[in-house]
This record gives sequence, C-alpha cells and structure tokens, in this order.
Amino acid sequence: MGKTGVYPGTFDPITNGHLDVIKRALKIFDELIVAVAISSYKKKPIFTVEERINFIVETTKGLKNLRVEAFDGLLVDFVREKKAVAIVRGLRAVSDYEYELQLAHANRKLFKEIETVFLMPSEEYSFLSSSLVKEIAYFGGSVKNLVPSIVEKALRNKFKK
Ligand code: COA
Repeated sequence: MGKTGVYPGTFDPITNGHLDVIKRALKIFDELIVAVAISSYKKKPIFTVEERINFIVETTKGLKNLRVEAFDGLLVDFVREKKAVAIVRGLRAVSDYEYELQLAHANRKLFKEIETVFLMPSEEYSFLSSSLVKEIAYFGGSVKNLVPSIVEKALRNKFKK
C-alpha cells in the first residue's frame, strides 16, 4: 500500500508558498491529501471552505496523486481515518519553529504513531503568509507573484472599494 501524507491548513487563501510545499511533498509521498480546516479555534477565515477548496483544486489541476478535502475537529482523527503516515507542515523561518514543535508534539500525544514532516518552501516564499497577502490586497497592493491568479482575482473582488 502506498504512503499517504496529509498537509493541513486553513488555506485562507492558498499562496504560492503553500503550492511549493505541496509540490515538494508529492515527491515524497505516494499520495497527498491537502486538508482544509473548516473551522478554526483561532482564525475567522474570509473565504468559505468551498471557496478555499476550489482555489486549491483549480491551481493544482495538473498535479497527480493529490486530493483536496475539508476536515473538521481534530486533525489526528482525520489523519487516522485516512490511514495517512505523516502530517506535512512548511517551515519558513526560525519563527515558525516553536509553534510547529508544539503542534507536532501535541499531535503525537494524541496519536503516537503519527509523524510530522517539515518541508522548507523556496526562500522566495519564506516571508509569505496568508495574512500578509490579505493585508496587501486589502490596501490595494498587488499580490500577483504571491498567489495563484484565481486567488488574486478573488481577493481583488473581495476588497473592491
Ligand atoms: N507559504 C506561505 N504561507 C505559509 C506557509 C508556506 N509555505 N506555511 C505556513 N504558512 C502560513 C499560513 O498561511 C498561515 O498564515 P496566516 O497565519 O497568515 O493565516 C500560517 O503560516 C500558519 O498558520 P497556522 O494557523 O499555524 O496553520 P494553518 O492555518 O496552516 O493550520 C491547523 C493550522 C489547521 C493545521 C491546526 O490548527 C489544526 O490542526 N487544527 C485542527 C484542530 C486540531 O487538531 N487542533 C489540535 C492540534 S494539536
């Protein structure tokens, strides 16, 4: 049986940095599931889960062995249900490390067989985050090389004055 990885996130919206991580993860796993968190304890997404999934599906059309699914509740329950072997997370800078370590340990406490694999996105995306992209778009700046074009359009519409 092939090995499945799960790449979870809010993806509000997907950025070129997330895409970079997806492509790297596909080189390692036989199958990758991008798991889009429906609701979050900490975040209030600006795009619906359907919109967030659609952005990912549209921008990953050419990629094989990839599925995009919504999940709610604990990540480890989803991972268990999918019989995945690892959780994939992107590590952009040292500042991500402490939080990611906490998350990985918490997930391991909840499900001791699960591994977390950290991948480094390309350095040109190391400063990128969904919040930053939203803030730039909100103030009318261009996010052209930071997000896929479908997301760029959606952001422009969302923040049209
Ligand atoms: N390129 C660009 N941005 C990236 C990135 C990359 N390679 N890697 C991470 N980011 C950004 C994300 O866009 C996000 O930006 P934002 O804060 O501006 O929105 C940020 O880095 C990471 O946010 P974070 O909240 O850590 O993760 P997330 O939104 O990606 O997802 C979940 C967090 C959904 C995985 C986590 O909350 C979860 O598992 N929830 C389910 C409930 C659960 O099981 N909780 C217990 C866990 S122990």
